[in-house]
Amino acid sequence: MNPFLLKGYKSPEYFCDREAETETILRAIKNQQDITLFAVRRIGKSTLLHHVFFNLKKEFDCIYADIWGTTSLNGFITETANAVIQSSVFSKRSIGRKLTDFIKSIGASLSVGVDGKPSLDIMFHDKQQVFNRLEEIFMLLENNKLPVILAFDEFQEIKNYSDGVPLEAKLRSLVQKYQNIRFIFSGSEQHLLADIFSDLRKPFYQSTRMIELKKIADEDYQNFILNHFLKGKKRIKDQIIGYILSICHGHTYYIQAICNFLYSQTKMPESIAEFERLYLEFIAEKRVFYSELPQRLTKHQFTTVKAIARKGGVKSPTSADFIKEAEVNGASSMQRILKALREKQVIIKDQDSYRLYDVFLEHYLKYIV
Ligand SMILES: Nc1ncnc2c1ncn2[C@@H]1O[C@H](COP(=O)(O)OP(=O)(O)OP(=O)(O)O)[C@@H](O)[C@H]1O
Ligand SMILES: [Mg+2]
Repeated sequence: MNPFLLKGYKSPEYFCDREAETETILRAIKNQQDITLFAVRRIGKSTLLHHVFFNLKKEFDCIYADIWGTTSLNGFITETANAVIQSSVFSKRSIGRKLTDFIKSIGASLSVGVDGKPSLDIMFHDKQQVFNRLEEIFMLLENNKLPVILAFDEFQEIKNYSDGVPLEAKLRSLVQKYQNIRFIFSGSEQHLLADIFSDLRKPFYQSTRMIELKKIADEDYQNFILNHFLKGKKRIKDQIIGYILSICHGHTYYIQAICNFLYSQTKMPESIAEFERLYLEFIAEKRVFYSELPQRLTKHQFTTVKAIARKGGVKSPTSADFIKEAEVNGASSMQRILKALREKQVIIKDQDSYRLYDVFLEHYLKYIV
């Protein structure tokens, strides 16, 4: 089995570090604190939640609701109800009385998908009823024998809900009402989450512990990777792993993907140059994803993105040298371009420099275009 997982969580063996973060979250949960976990995309939020669940599954019933793609409160509630019936709250009792009662209380109908998993469909008639459904779900959890952790992943999605109901205000009052439920809100798009949780006028203000997930320390990641190669009897040079960590800016998903690719090779590269030759083929396959990029950007945005990619990261994008390299007309144009590229999530500010959000795009533009 390839030990570098590209999705999901298996066990601590395949999970690198995050010891401090795990400890902070465990301690918060055990002290009845609710949590907001936020970070850039693909850094490891969802996997960390599953790791935390792995550590708590004896003491808590853990529920993971992924609300990505929901566009309304109805979708939010349906997703939550589905997460509940698929969690350990019900697995112990299978389809018993309790489940039938629950389904009835929230006005849902049950079906079993092709994958054998049960799923619920909820009919909503009026707005008032919608919140009652949510309360029914929380009531079930409040009366659960074990304490419950309810994690909402991709929580920033609630900002896009189109039905204009005051979900944040309602959620806050609910969150504070139930003793038996610990809430975890997790998401990306930092400014959206910050707006939900830190705006003084917003009801969620200061109601949770804010935890930002940063990159895994290079040293810890290096040891984790070397150990797995060693276990798989694959000889790989330290420098090559160090090189991968540096060209990925410590961004978890990209490191995992490159290590997964490298591990799958029959012959390991002997040098960084050999690794680069191999890697070029891997990155060239990404053409299908990236060839449309010039159409999504203005000419100057594109030349700026290419210039940032060539450099790997840029500390002073408004310096005369960089403006020239990016073929832009001046510092104020550059400011506008950077703002637009950040809004489109093409670039991010990582510590004190700008880099491409998508590390493979950076490598594609640097090596292939
Ligand atoms: N600590 C870790 N050790 C090993 N692999 C990890 C670790 N954390 C995350 N990963 C891997 O990195 C990738 C991204 O992780 P994950 O999906 O949890 O990120 P995310 O922050 O939730 O991303 P998104 O914002 O897109 O939902 C996955 O392939 C996952 O398996
Ligand atoms: Mg995630």
